[in-house]
This record gives sequence, C-alpha cells and structure tokens, in this order.
Amino acid sequence: AQDVSTDLTEVLYTKEEIDAKIRELAAQIDRDYADKDVLLVGVLKGAIMVMADLARALQSHVTMDWMAVSSYGSGTKSSGVVRILKDLDADLMNRHVLIVEDIIDSGLTLSWLKTNLESRGPASLEICTLFRKPEAVKVDIDVKYVGMDIPNKFVVGYGLDFDEKYRNLDCVGILAPHVYQ
Ligand code: PRP
Ligand code: MN
Ligand code: MG
Repeated sequence: AQDVSTDLTEVLYTKEEIDAKIRELAAQIDRDYADKDVLLVGVLKGAIMVMADLARALQSHVTMDWMAVSSYGSGTKSSGVVRILKDLDADLMNRHVLIVEDIIDSGLTLSWLKTNLESRGPASLEICTLFRKPEAVKVDIDVKYVGMDIPNKFVVGYGLDFDEKYRNLDCVGILAPHVYQ
C-alpha cells in the first residue's frame, strides 16, 4: 500500500491547504467570468482532481470537456512534441475556454496546447494551474490563474503521478528517492 509517512520525504500541501487554494482560484474565476459561460478543458489525467474540486467550488455556469495528450520523446522528460490521444468533444468557436491543469513543469505541454486550442477560434482562452515549477520552466506561457509555485522536486499526489501511482493521495508531497531509485 502507499504510505504517506514513508513514500514522501515531505508533505508540501495538505488536503485543507489545497482546498483553500482551490476556493481562492474559484472566487477569482467567478469574478472574471461573472457574465460569461465558461468551458473548462481538463487535461487528462493529472487534472482530474483539480477539475473535480474547482468545478464544484465555482458558482458560474460551467461545462466540462477533456483532452488527453501525450508527449513524444525520451524517457520521462517531455519534449514539446505532443500527440492528441483524445480530442475534445466540444467545438471551441466563440466559447470562453479555460484550460485546467494540475502542474506546469517545463511548460511544453501547455505551450503546445494553447497554440492548438487558439487555432479553433475561441472567444477567449486562459489557463488555470494549481501548481507551477518556476525553476523548471523552459517556455514562457501567459498563465492567468496559478495556485502555488513549488520547488523543482518530484512531487506526487492530488492527480500528480509517479508511474501512474499516487494520484489518489489527498495531499501533495515530495516523492522519496527510494521509491523511484
Ligand atoms: C504532467 C502534468 C502536466 C504536464 C506538465 O502530465 O499533468 O500535464 O506533465 O509537464 P510539462 O510542463 O513539462 O509539459 P503527464 O504528461 O505526466 O500526463 P498525466 O497528466 O497523465 O500524468
Ligand atoms: Mn498531465
Ligand atoms: Mg504524469
């Protein structure tokens, strides 16, 4: 079984802290989209927890859609070359689109995704991410909603995985080296 006390070297954010941050982001989004219908686009699979909690914290009318992408390239490092595994069902033309992500690491996934979705004619396109690693960023992207900036460490939990595991932790923490070495 997964054990927070041995698998993580440190808990960065507890369930309560994540919850509070999601509420802050939701309040901002509610203000900004007060007179608009927003289409939330979740990026599978990491964004599932953020999407589920953010959507429920919002007062605005929202619809949800999902996209699955995979980055080509060596090992676990993302290369910036992205392939669509599952495309959106929704037509983005004239819609107010908000991409929902769990984390921006190098920024390569979102940079590609933003360009791709921009070409589909949305009325507006913004990004909301719960986490961002400023030290890992390789491409600058304009991100309107950022939960927290975190150190450039291997983090798991609340949607973030190592080898598909740990997504279901309700906290976010630094993975202990003995787990992946
Ligand atoms: C992770 C994370 C982001 C992306 C960030 O997804 O959920 O989508 O990497 O990395 P980048 O900024 O360097 O592009 P991953 O590709 O691991 O797929 P997953 O969401 O299914 O875990
Ligand atoms: Mn992801
Ligand atoms: Mg992953």
